[in-house]
Amino acid sequence: MNGCADHCPEGFLSRLRDEFLVSWDDARTIVGNFHEEMRRGLAGQPSSLRMLPTFAGRPRGTEQGRLLILDLGGTNVRIGEAVLDGKGRAELTSVDRSVLPREIMSASGTELFDFLADRVDHFLGGRGLDDRWCRDLAFTFSFPVEQSSLVSGRLVNWTKGFTGPGVAGEDVAALLRAALARRGRERIRVAALVNDTVGTLAAGSYADPACDLGVILGTGTNACYFERTDRIEKCRDGVAAGEMIVNMEWGNFNRLRTNPWDELLDRTTSNAGRQRLEKMISGMYLGELARLVIGKMMAVGLLPQGTNHAALATPYALTAERLAAAVRSTDPAGAVGIEGAAPVDGAAVGQICRLVAARAARLAGAAIAAVISWRDEDLETGHVVAIDGSLFEKFPGFQENMREMLRELFGPRAAGIQFQLIPDGSGIGAAVVAAMGARTGWGAGSC
Ligand code: BGC
Repeated sequence: MNGCADHCPEGFLSRLRDEFLVSWDDARTIVGNFHEEMRRGLAGQPSSLRMLPTFAGRPRGTEQGRLLILDLGGTNVRIGEAVLDGKGRAELTSVDRSVLPREIMSASGTELFDFLADRVDHFLGGRGLDDRWCRDLAFTFSFPVEQSSLVSGRLVNWTKGFTGPGVAGEDVAALLRAALARRGRERIRVAALVNDTVGTLAAGSYADPACDLGVILGTGTNACYFERTDRIEKCRDGVAAGEMIVNMEWGNFNRLRTNPWDELLDRTTSNAGRQRLEKMISGMYLGELARLVIGKMMAVGLLPQGTNHAALATPYALTAERLAAAVRSTDPAGAVGIEGAAPVDGAAVGQICRLVAARAARLAGAAIAAVISWRDEDLETGHVVAIDGSLFEKFPGFQENMREMLRELFGPRAAGIQFQLIPDGSGIGAAVVAAMGARTGWGAGSC
C-alpha cells in the first residue's frame, strides 16, 4: 500500500486497484462459497442464494404457438407477440417498448399493475383487438418471486430501486389478472409467470439444447440453470423426477470481499444489506460506485472540480452508459462531466471507470464458473450460457474480462464455455415456458 494514499493521485489509485481486485484466490473462494450457499438454498436452509423453484422444465424445441408477452424489467416495459414455430425458432413481432416512468417505481401496487394493464390494453386496442379477444399471456416479472406454480407467485422483495407498497408478499400474477379485469380484459389468461433469467434460458435452450445457464447483466443481475429435481431438497416430496429451472437470485449473494465504496453505496440504498453482489456488478450501481470514488478524489483535491461539477453532485447521475462512454473516450474526464481536465486527470478518471467495470465483469465470470462447476465439476461437456443485458452487450471490455476470469479458473477447458447473446430472450422465453405449460406431477404449492 502506498503511504500517500489520500495525498497523491498515484497512492490513491494504487489503493483503489487493491480494493477493486478480484484475485485468483478471491475467485476460488467465491466459487466455494457459491456452492455452499447453493446447497443451503436448495435444502431450504437460510442462504443468501434463494434458489427459487420456477415450475418450468427444459424446452424441447417443439413448442408452438402465438402468445402475448408482457415484460417488466428494471427500466423498461415491453409488450408484444411471440411466435414459436415448433422448430426452435421464435420471434417477437409488433413490440411496443416504453421506458418505465420513474414515479411508477415507488407507486402503489394497484397503480403499477393498472399501468401495465393500460399498456396491454393500448397495445391490443392499437391493433383493433377488442375485449372479446382472448389469448395466453406470458408475464415476465424481473424480481424475486416465490412461485407456488407456473402461474402464481409472491414477490419476496423489491430490487433495483423499486419501493412501491402493496406488492411484496402478494401474488403478482393475481395482481395483473385483477388489473386486466379492471380494464375489461378478463379474457386474457396469464399462462406463465417467469423471471427474466428464466425467459433468457428458455429462449436459449429452445434454439440450442446445449444451453444450460441463463444470465442477466443489465440494470440488475441474476442467473438460473436446469437443476435435477432430486437435488432440490426443499421440494423433494412434491415434485416428479426431471429437471426444473431454478432461479438463483444471485444478485443477493453476500459472501464477498467488499470495499469501503461498496459499504458507502449500500448504506444509502432502499434495500441496504441486500443484493450485495448486484451492487458490485449491475448497471444500476456501477456508475454510482465510480461517482463516489471520483467525488472523494475531488473532495481531497486529487482531481479538479471541473466546470460542470453539478453533473457529478447528484447520486446516480453517473450512469453505466456514461461510464462506458468514459472507458471508450480519449477524454474520460469530459465524458463523466469534468470539463477542461488535464490529461493526467483524465487518465485517472479512465482508470477508475475501468477498475469498477473490470471487477464487475470478473465477479460475473466467477459466479458463472460457480454455477457451471456445480453441475459439471470437471467440465466434461461444453456449456452455452444464454446472456442478455446492456453491460454484456455494450460495455467495452466486459465480455473479455468475464472470459479472462473463466480462463484463470478453468485453464484451457474454459474454451468449452460459450456465451450466447439472446436479445429479447426474457420475453420470447416466457412464451416458450407458457407454451410448455405446467408439467404433470409438479403440483401447486409443492415446494
Ligand atoms: C432481480 C432478479 C432479476 C435481475 C435481472 C434483480 O434485481 O432480483 O429477479 O432477474 O435483477 O433483471
